[in-house]
Amino acid sequence: MIRYKAIISLAALIFLFVGNTSSQEKQQSFKPGELWPDNNGVHINAHGGGILKYEGTYFWFGEHKTEGEAGNRANVGVHCYSSKDLYNWKDEGIALAVSQDPESEIVKGCVIERPKVIFNQKTKKFVMWFHLELKSMGYKAARTGLAVADSPTGPFRYIKSLNPNAGQWPINFTKEQKEMQFPANLKSWSVEWKNAVANGMFIHRDFEKGQMARDMTLFVDDDGKAYHIHSSEENLTLHISELNDDYTDFTKNFATVMPAGHNEAPAIFKKEGKYFLITSGCTGWTPNAARSFVADHILGPWTELGNPCRGTEEEMKTTFESQSTFILENPDNTGQYIFMADRWRPKNAIDGRYIWLPILFEEGKPTLKWMDNWDLSNIDYVTSLND
Ligand code: GAL
Repeated sequence: MIRYKAIISLAALIFLFVGNTSSQEKQQSFKPGELWPDNNGVHINAHGGGILKYEGTYFWFGEHKTEGEAGNRANVGVHCYSSKDLYNWKDEGIALAVSQDPESEIVKGCVIERPKVIFNQKTKKFVMWFHLELKSMGYKAARTGLAVADSPTGPFRYIKSLNPNAGQWPINFTKEQKEMQFPANLKSWSVEWKNAVANGMFIHRDFEKGQMARDMTLFVDDDGKAYHIHSSEENLTLHISELNDDYTDFTKNFATVMPAGHNEAPAIFKKEGKYFLITSGCTGWTPNAARSFVADHILGPWTELGNPCRGTEEEMKTTFESQSTFILENPDNTGQYIFMADRWRPKNAIDGRYIWLPILFEEGKPTLKWMDNWDLSNIDYVTSLND
């Protein structure tokens, strides 16, 4: 009798287990803007994210948001998910947890945004950089933070934060720009002020202490060199900085991109030897029109290609109500690129949605068109920039 009961309990357990795992319907496509359930049926919580492919598995890292407006602060940390097919994501938990120690730079309540992870072949470490704002200082600190782990899902150890490139001029600065003097109290947004910004007024201001670093991404080039790309100079100019061989520091080799161009949310990819950047303007959580750029060398010069979005006026003005965060080249199918963006929900941060769209090309320019439902097989990709 006892044995009979045990068999029934075991059967019930198996039923429960199988029932549970199969209750989450398998995803077979991307549905931009909709709730995106993970393996537990919970909306993915990895905003401002980026993706790393390591040993056949994709790892998605992003900001773990919580409910309400305060949910935009780092109350929990950086969330990690894994996937084999990019449609179905398994919750791998918190890769970098905020600290409970009030002395820590990543204490609960600070701001951790746009975390990106790359793998260093030499040290075999997973290296995460992210935009860090110190607790109770609004967005003033403008630092970049570093955390390192031995496994892609973490735990990541927080190492340090910094304002990069202290004491260093951009490689594309002229002698005149290095020696320039700027009149005090220029009126913000006046022509004189914009010229001064374009000539490095803020680089001069922050020269000793290091430059500001807000919205950011990382890029590893074919030769293994990694770059940290971020909005600097009060969000007016993008900086592209080379990282050292371990990816854990700046080499001080950096260039400015689109001085005074007011670009945020940088996302980058390389196709046929050309580098492409997609960015946004600076309107906080409110979406604006995306911009795109091309260069033959990662440190520039960069050329403007215009708004990559195609569609209605509203779609073009708001980037389909989203802001860029990352561009993933499908390592299984080179030539396919996925544009990843966030539809922020500032009043209830945790409800933010993901806008993933294929990057199409028109006359050598990356373009984006709205799709309600798409998968990697139903896209007619342009494989050559000359097509
Ligand atoms: C956006 C930025 C986000 C976040 C937000 C805060 O412009 O891209 O990452 O910093 O501002 O208002």
